[in-house]
Amino acid sequence: MDHFAYRQGELYCENVPVCQIAEAVGTPAYIYSKATLLHHFRQVRDGFAEVNPTICFSIKSCQNIHILQLLAQEGAGFDVVSGGELFRARQAGADMARIVFAGVGKRDVEIEQAIKAGIGWFNVESEAELVNLQRVAALLGATVRAALRINPDVDPKTHTYTTTGKKETKFGVDLERAMNVFQESVRQPNVRLCGLHLHIGSPVNTVQPYVEAVTKALLFIDELRVAGFQIEALNIGGGFGASYSTDEAPTATDYARAIVPLLHGKRLSILTEPGRSIAANAGILVAQVLLVKQSGERQFAIVDAAMTDLIRPALYGAYHFAWPVRPGEDFCPERRGADLKLAGTVEMDIVGPVCESGDFLAKGRHLPPVQRGDYMAVFTAGAYGFVMSSQYNSRPRAPEVLVDGAAYAIIRRRETYEDLVGPEYV
Ligand code: LLP
Repeated sequence: MDHFAYRQGELYCENVPVCQIAEAVGTPAYIYSKATLLHHFRQVRDGFAEVNPTICFSIKSCQNIHILQLLAQEGAGFDVVSGGELFRARQAGADMARIVFAGVGKRDVEIEQAIKAGIGWFNVESEAELVNLQRVAALLGATVRAALRINPDVDPKTHTYTTTGKKETKFGVDLERAMNVFQESVRQPNVRLCGLHLHIGSPVNTVQPYVEAVTKALLFIDELRVAGFQIEALNIGGGFGASYSTDEAPTATDYARAIVPLLHGKRLSILTEPGRSIAANAGILVAQVLLVKQSGERQFAIVDAAMTDLIRPALYGAYHFAWPVRPGEDFCPERRGADLKLAGTVEMDIVGPVCESGDFLAKGRHLPPVQRGDYMAVFTAGAYGFVMSSQYNSRPRAPEVLVDGAAYAIIRRRETYEDLVGPEYV
């Protein structure tokens, strides 16, 4: 579900024509819908309401401080993976007690910053990390609360690059070793290891891997309690899907319906770390067609956005629905989908100007005829879109715009050539 829709032949974000924004701020540009963002946050909150979870929005998926601020005002906590993300959370006015700090390799200085900020939880991913956390906490005379990230060895059936809950990945501690880590923690007085964390992958488009992983975690919690450890919390991670094509992802309610019954009566506070399911459908990338070109049998629309703006197609072979912003009444899609083939459309690839064959946004799509100057929208780009952008080929990064009803605001300006070289004047 999102608030991007075609009306009278053109695309609107909420009540603003996308063309109007593109003309005002230029292209490429990221455009977010506030109503969509909040809708998806509330879906998670309401879906899991029975266990009243702390929803730690995963900053890595969409980091703009204005977006974080909106979510903080809704009661979100945040999942951070670096000192930089912690800094962003503070800028957004986040409640530090609702912050979890994850990641397989945290630097001492980042740990110090997080301890001083008074964050809620450290997610610890190895015995070595536990020892180091103890050392830094002791130096500061602090006691911190930590959850051990277990690796439940469950296949999330997603891209190998974003599979994290299988044994052969670098993430978490396998269940055989996890008891030892708890036993070790008895000798770490400045770390109170009293939670379990899991994150099995992203996106996980079925509920079954969660059921398996949570069931394993709960059995282990029983064992830990029998062994005398106090376990207060279970963090079920993120990884919930989003709709890139049609409605292929389960809704927050679907995930909750499968997971929540497992948690009844377990005397656990529940945390979750969704990113994509909240932000992905809330953003689009808008580009302008620079040229249309034929090469062999293939037709290309060369646009001014590239893999530097949205790397997901190049990196994961990811599918994003793409369509002209002003296709006219005859080509207004009533739905989006990989299988959409309207009469009169032409098969083409949408590619960027970067000097790599991997620089494409969409391949083999049936699109209405387009010409130089037309705007194209690439959908479901709100998560892992702008955040993964780069300045490769010395391309200044795109601006970000937030739409709220009939109004819009620039929430990050377009980078300039000075921004490209500024740090080099040393
Ligand atoms: N928690 C942990 C420990 C994570 O590693 C991640 C994502 C999340 C939560 C949030 O997952 P989400 O709810 O957003 O699926 N760049 C890739 C996705 C990488 C995900 C990394 N970890 C992509 O564009 O698909």
